[in-house]
Amino acid sequence: MNTQTYPAGFQGEHEEPALMLHCRRVASAAVELSKRMGWNVDEQRAVREAAMEHHHFALPSHSRMLTRLVDEMWGYSPAASEPSEESVERMKALELCCLFVQRWEFAPYECTTWGDIVSELRTLAADGFFEPSQVEALAVVPSVQLEDVRSVVSKLPVFPAVALKAIRVAQNPMCTAAQIEDIVGSDPVLAGEVLRAANSPAYSPGMRIQSIRQAAMFMGPNDCCKVIAAAALRPMFQSPLVRPLWNHSMEVARLAEALARESGKSSPDEAFLCGLLHDVGRLALWKLPVRLTSQYTTLLQNGCEPMFAETILAGFDHTVAGREVALRWALPQSIAHAIEFHHQPEQTEDAVASLLYLAEHCSGSAEDLPSATRFQIALDRVGITRQKLNSMPAFSAHGKW
Ligand SMILES: [Fe+2]
Ligand SMILES: [Fe+2]
Repeated sequence: MNTQTYPAGFQGEHEEPALMLHCRRVASAAVELSKRMGWNVDEQRAVREAAMEHHHFALPSHSRMLTRLVDEMWGYSPAASEPSEESVERMKALELCCLFVQRWEFAPYECTTWGDIVSELRTLAADGFFEPSQVEALAVVPSVQLEDVRSVVSKLPVFPAVALKAIRVAQNPMCTAAQIEDIVGSDPVLAGEVLRAANSPAYSPGMRIQSIRQAAMFMGPNDCCKVIAAAALRPMFQSPLVRPLWNHSMEVARLAEALARESGKSSPDEAFLCGLLHDVGRLALWKLPVRLTSQYTTLLQNGCEPMFAETILAGFDHTVAGREVALRWALPQSIAHAIEFHHQPEQTEDAVASLLYLAEHCSGSAEDLPSATRFQIALDRVGITRQKLNSMPAFSAHGKW
């Protein structure tokens, strides 16, 4: 929680939330970097405090803090005329983290990737602006490797065969009631879910629906497939840590489906299923060893967005982890692709990735920084105007876009 106060009328009053978030990101990056550089706890604290204040030094109310931080960062003392080598190193780390975070904050507008940012930092280090060892420590990310995610993915429950069957069948717009009966088979839990959905107010049948065949005729086989896939996947999100992720996935699924129906650029059924699965990468990341998830939690608690926290810790984010999960589960390639690009719609022509981006953004999940550029690209890809989006009941309930 930010407790800074400013003189009345100081323009920072309005800029503060964004500035404070920037400072928190820089502090988080700086602490992570200082750990990787093997600095002691006091050095880590000094860098973190300096990072939290690095845009506030000019304020008179901070002058005492400034003096203390400069002392700590630069190691000034009455006897020393020059800062020590270690102090210069710490200041350079702060400058590096500040630039790194700025580049990350601009990425949604400049459509740059982690790889672009790293290569820019390496070029600057080669030109003498930064310490190459610090750039490498930030870039190489020893905390989590893609291999760690792959090994976590290999320990995830096997993707429910029945959900996969439902997804495959749902991709065919001509699927039949007999296929639904075949999928549900003798599974009473799934059969119960389908019947409950068919008798729910969402479908309001005039009579009690009692068989899967009736349900499939009444709801339509494709809707049955969505209910089956959702019911088969839900148990994976049972732990309290990831339960909110399930609610979010359901919401994004519904929004993506509504958008697909409106745009006509993708099958609403496929959009729904992709929405359901779009954040499976986050599910995988939560299954990393506790040592890593606790670091991840700390970054989130410090105000970092999930995408930023993931990038700092791993050098990749849940979209990449999601692709790994989708491949492991042998999901259709189109679903893996949409998952991989659901935060970067500009990187693909795929309309479903854009549908997911819009649904993700409008759900208010705040997983990433908002980007007017990406938002417009995604709208253009799916052929929907802002006015149209605002007039859609599923979206207007979330605010004005
Ligand atoms: Fe996401
Ligand atoms: Fe999401």
